[in-house]
Amino acid sequence: MNYDFRIDAADKPTMYRDLASAVQGLVSGEPDAIANMANAAAVIFETLPDVNWVGFYRNIDGELVLGPFQGRPACIRIKFGEGVCGVAAQTRQVQRVEDVHAFPGHIACDSASNSEIVVPLIRDGELFGVLDIDSPKHARFSEEDEAGVVKLGEILARVL
Ligand code: SME
Repeated sequence: MNYDFRIDAADKPTMYRDLASAVQGLVSGEPDAIANMANAAAVIFETLPDVNWVGFYRNIDGELVLGPFQGRPACIRIKFGEGVCGVAAQTRQVQRVEDVHAFPGHIACDSASNSEIVVPLIRDGELFGVLDIDSPKHARFSEEDEAGVVKLGEILARVL
């Protein structure tokens, strides 16, 4: 296994395709969810430009609890329906937020964050948690980013 991923971030579709292969390579054959989330957070954080936080919240008995991440220390527990992550968990819908300060109930863990995307991780109808990516840039995440991050979420939902 080669752990040295050098992914060119210039062309988004190619970047997300290469990132998906890297995530797939890192998690395939490994059953430990924490190891998989940790490596996924690391490679996503290293690859995506203009992000300040990449990580997971896990669904523990109907509450989101902080999982492996890269970035500044973050709030540990988030109730379903609270903040961007809690809304993603409750609605099971991707939340792509151009301005987090305008999002009702947004939980500001890092004041540098201005936009965010949160993807629910669902397997066999069960919500395992969410993948949260934050950016200091306003409206950092486009529809193209959403498509790419949703694919990463699909890969990860199989190994959590
Ligand atoms: N901003 C998130 C909280 C988690 S942190 O940003 C890591 C939210 O409102 O759900």
